[in-house]
Amino acid sequence: MKVLLVGGGGREHAIAEALKRSPQVDKLYCAPGNAGIARIAECVKIGTMDFEALTAFAKDHQIDLTVCSMDDPLCAGIVDAFEAKGLRIFGTPANAAIIEGSKAFSKDLMKKYGIPTAAYEIFDDPEKALSYLETANMPIVVKASGLALGKGVLICNTLEEAQSAVKELMTGKKFGEAGSKVVIEEFMTGREVSVLAFADGKNYKLMSSSQDHKRAGDGDTGLNTGGMGTFSPSPFYTPEIDAFCRENIYQRTMDAMAKEGRPFRGVLYFGLMLTQSGPKVLEYNTRFGDPETQVVLPRMRSDIVEIMQACIDGTLDKVELEFEDNAAVCVVIASGGYPGSYEKGKVITGLENFDNADGYYCFHAGTALREDGATITSGGRVLGVTALGKTLKDARANAYKACDWIHFDGQYMRHDIGKAIDSVQ
Ligand code: AMP
Ligand code: GLY
Repeated sequence: MKVLLVGGGGREHAIAEALKRSPQVDKLYCAPGNAGIARIAECVKIGTMDFEALTAFAKDHQIDLTVCSMDDPLCAGIVDAFEAKGLRIFGTPANAAIIEGSKAFSKDLMKKYGIPTAAYEIFDDPEKALSYLETANMPIVVKASGLALGKGVLICNTLEEAQSAVKELMTGKKFGEAGSKVVIEEFMTGREVSVLAFADGKNYKLMSSSQDHKRAGDGDTGLNTGGMGTFSPSPFYTPEIDAFCRENIYQRTMDAMAKEGRPFRGVLYFGLMLTQSGPKVLEYNTRFGDPETQVVLPRMRSDIVEIMQACIDGTLDKVELEFEDNAAVCVVIASGGYPGSYEKGKVITGLENFDNADGYYCFHAGTALREDGATITSGGRVLGVTALGKTLKDARANAYKACDWIHFDGQYMRHDIGKAIDSVQ
């Protein structure tokens, strides 16, 4: 069959790789793709928000299945646009993608259906938000309700910080419409775990757990980023926690969305915090995590196309979703300065080391091909160097070994991805 993948980040490179492994896929296109994806798929120059051009391409090229796992197009209705034209697509329709697109919606959903999460208030009037802060306990978390590339969450230790966060989000122009409404919520502490699920509107099937490292610096210091590295599985996600979440979070969320007339299909991402008083939902996403996907999909034994088809057809309960009994670690190599300003256009060397290295992957996130054929940097997060191993410790050693294969000017990475596992292994 012919498959079109929409997107061009590290997550899409990992999805492309999983699609390529499917015995059902004869031809893979990616719009717009990147320099790494171009090695395994035919990249087409169409933007991810250009639904007219994407649907026309799918029709013209007789695409059997389109796959999209990006928040902006999903929230803007890419699934609806494809289906209106009779085209088959894996992803979440806009009315359910709101679970990520509006934190105000998801917080109210959790409250209504008794799904554990941090206590919160929602404001669309900056004056009311500011006066609420006067009596609130610190630290506190101020979040833009809308989509803000993972950067609309501000953790505030003092009243002054919280006040300037509200002003920055609500009256500053940095986050546009996304910040016109804010969620102010209780600060929680605990270990974070990402659990991704395939969903068909009614049923869900969990993928193996993972953990992201969102802060820019070693020891979880510095600014929040899109994610600096991941490991899978998370040894902190125990069978007891899994049982609790299945009972109180996962099925309850699926049922809540169906009850609201927004049946959820696609990938549902549960961002959990394991607090002293039990697991709580930090956030939902309507898509594969980035860079969680880079450690989860290389461990998946099942055929991703079969699972995606079952999600579309509402038959997820009829298929098996299996993972290898191994581990993976992904270390993001970023441009110096990220998540602040950084330079682009640096030549990347050493990529060929991955060509015949079994169990090693170099997922491209922000790369481009120069006219002379050189691969150059074109984004903040440039590469996701990923390795498998029998154990998390092996996978981490392998991933860091492979990071040494790569060179570009100003490259930056964290050196403690997966270090937390030392406390349990
Ligand atoms: P979110 O996009 O809502 O997941 O927030 C991004 C990151 O901010 C999370 O992964 C957490 O590290 C942190 N965070 C968000 N909400 C809270 C909270 N209520 N308490 C503590 N940390 C939080
Ligand atoms: N890694 C966090 C996210 O994908 O939202």
